[in-house]
Amino acid sequence: MNASRDPLLQPFALGKLQLKNRIVSASHEPSYSEDGMPKARYRLYHEAKARGGMAMTMIGGSAVVAPDSPPAFGNLLLYKDEIVPWLSELADGVHQHDCAVMCQITHLGRRTRYNTGDWLSVVAPSSVREPAHRAFPKAMEDHDFDRIAKAYADGAARCQAAGLDGIEINAYGHMFDGFLSPWTNRREDEWGGDLQGRLRFPLMILDHIRAAVGPDFIIGLRLTVDELLPHGMHKEEGLEICRLLQQSGALDFFSVIRGHIDSDAGLAEVIPNMGAPAAPHLAFAGEVRRATQLPILHAARINDVATARYALREGLLDLVGMVRAHMAEPNITKLIEAGEEERIRPCVGAGYCIDGIYENGAAYCIHNPATGREQTLPQVIARDVDGPKHVLVIGAGPAGLEAARASAERGHRVTLLEANDQAGGQIRVASLLARRREMLGITEWRVSECERLGVEMRFNTYAEAEDVLALGPDVVIVATGGLPQVHPELEAGEALVQSSWDALADPVRAGERVLVFDDHGGYPGLSAMEHLAKQGARVQFASPERMIGIEVGSTNFPAFLTALDRGGVEVRLNRTLSRVERGENGLRATLTSPYCRDVLETLNVDRIIVEHGTAPLDELYFELKPLSSNLGELDIEAFIAIAPQRKRNNPEGRFQLFRIGDAVSSRNAHAAVYDGLRLALGL
Ligand SMILES: Cc1cc2nc3c(=O)[nH]c(=O)nc-3n(C[C@H](O)[C@H](O)[C@H](O)COP(=O)(O)O)c2cc1C
Ligand code: SF4
Repeated sequence: MNASRDPLLQPFALGKLQLKNRIVSASHEPSYSEDGMPKARYRLYHEAKARGGMAMTMIGGSAVVAPDSPPAFGNLLLYKDEIVPWLSELADGVHQHDCAVMCQITHLGRRTRYNTGDWLSVVAPSSVREPAHRAFPKAMEDHDFDRIAKAYADGAARCQAAGLDGIEINAYGHMFDGFLSPWTNRREDEWGGDLQGRLRFPLMILDHIRAAVGPDFIIGLRLTVDELLPHGMHKEEGLEICRLLQQSGALDFFSVIRGHIDSDAGLAEVIPNMGAPAAPHLAFAGEVRRATQLPILHAARINDVATARYALREGLLDLVGMVRAHMAEPNITKLIEAGEEERIRPCVGAGYCIDGIYENGAAYCIHNPATGREQTLPQVIARDVDGPKHVLVIGAGPAGLEAARASAERGHRVTLLEANDQAGGQIRVASLLARRREMLGITEWRVSECERLGVEMRFNTYAEAEDVLALGPDVVIVATGGLPQVHPELEAGEALVQSSWDALADPVRAGERVLVFDDHGGYPGLSAMEHLAKQGARVQFASPERMIGIEVGSTNFPAFLTALDRGGVEVRLNRTLSRVERGENGLRATLTSPYCRDVLETLNVDRIIVEHGTAPLDELYFELKPLSSNLGELDIEAFIAIAPQRKRNNPEGRFQLFRIGDAVSSRNAHAAVYDGLRLALGL
């Protein structure tokens, strides 16, 4: 598309703020703060997106304005004056790329925990517990109102003092909308009851903020306009609230949310992952735009340029929020401008990022390891090798493809051998569950980048040691992945069980009785369960853990549990599969307790699936090891520091040898690409 006519690239005046295009990274908290401050890591993450050409980046998702809003997921502590210089440095860093920057401010209300920060009781309009964070809030008292309204205003003033372009108030699942919603505001005094009463405190907050920052500073509201809760705020009331808040004159824009986030199931609908339709709330945001006068921003799975463009062309939005799309690819705008949209690394909707703020302590993109690690990893790999080497990569799964891509980007000559007829490795297995098909984007993008970079890819090529030697490489990277293994507690019947891979790949008979035993706790076991149940099998699921899918994060497990409920899957916790035998009626599985060790039950089934991760396919690596110059040793310190790999333990060796990804040990796709990138940058 001609850049001058592209709706995404048209400028926009947001109040007095001139935005150079319509592309925005909406507010989010990646948990990159240090001591609650946006230090170098936080700043460099946003600078990378600003450099990528977007018009505005919104920082500090849920930056907290008061100590009785304790940080729940690494939130910025906006109630501390010491934050101002950090924000200021960040604002300067972003502004140098002609990109605007705002901060989302909030009092989390009931959406946090008491046993963090200063260990203060959680406070909310009424004492209604939020299931996701499980705190029982104190209902606000008379003396809390002025204090909290002032805290919002002080937080906004700190953002202004730091040179930010504006703020946005979070009003979905937090304190502000807690007052608006009849579900969470059960007060019978002047702060509750009818709409006028429920609006009283939100309007007071807005008055305080506007008085503190003056008329020109941008103030937005990220509001749920329909909570999609039976006793919550419905669309009609939500639209009326928008109109009344707009009339206050304090606001410059709405960022539209539809749904509720007080439970993991609700959050998964507000922040939809793969398997959900593209942009599921976009039409709704368009309705809000038609019913109101303020500019509308919206983000929810607008993860490709075509959908973003459509949203603007159809007049559904004024500004397009693309959060995760930029975590996967911070250079979207630059690539659009350069006419290279096909090079955009796609956000596949894995939700590894959002789940990571609770599970990993930080948001990592499943297939962009540089995001959140801009201090050590480049978002754009420079062509920087003096003496190009011949790098031979064996295995075209995520680890091998990433190593090949990154090595080629740096200027090495790369050959990639793959035993299969196509690339993908375990990503292909993961994508066999129809709902998770988009996982393929991880390897498809890399294949197309390898093609562009001239990597010689040979499929149907099972590499033996002599093939490797014949190619005469300088560096050999073994990325051969792994094969399913059974758990060591299985005393008998290994030959009678199958793997999650088989469950996903083989045909399923309706009514077939299947036991899925999963002591891995990750995606493969749950995917096998879902696939089997959806194909009509009668599934029983057993795990030695205290919950199922213990490694699967909060926006991803709701879809699995929905499938489990719909498929009538029976769950057994605290059970280890200890024996499998042939019985008169199929297979007999013996289940014991991992705690008391007693045999608890035997089950008769037709098929038994065991999920225990993979064992490395490392034969080739061990054959090559004595022939290599480094005897296969990775310099771990150099690997971490992204420095050259210089180990030469065997002067006779003809090539450097490394292994990465699951060829080392059973891990996940993020670990695989992170291995591949780090190693390639050290060659
Ligand atoms: C890691 C992460 C943290 C988030 N934290 C916040 C937050 O603190 N406040 C907020 O309003 N939204 C937050 N969001 C939601 C995003 O702003 C956005 O609404 C959501 O990711 C859907 O848009 P997308 O599909 O473009 O990513 C977060 C999203 C992610 C991925
Ligand atoms: S982890 Fe998945 S959802 Fe998050 S940015 Fe990366 S590809 Fe997108």
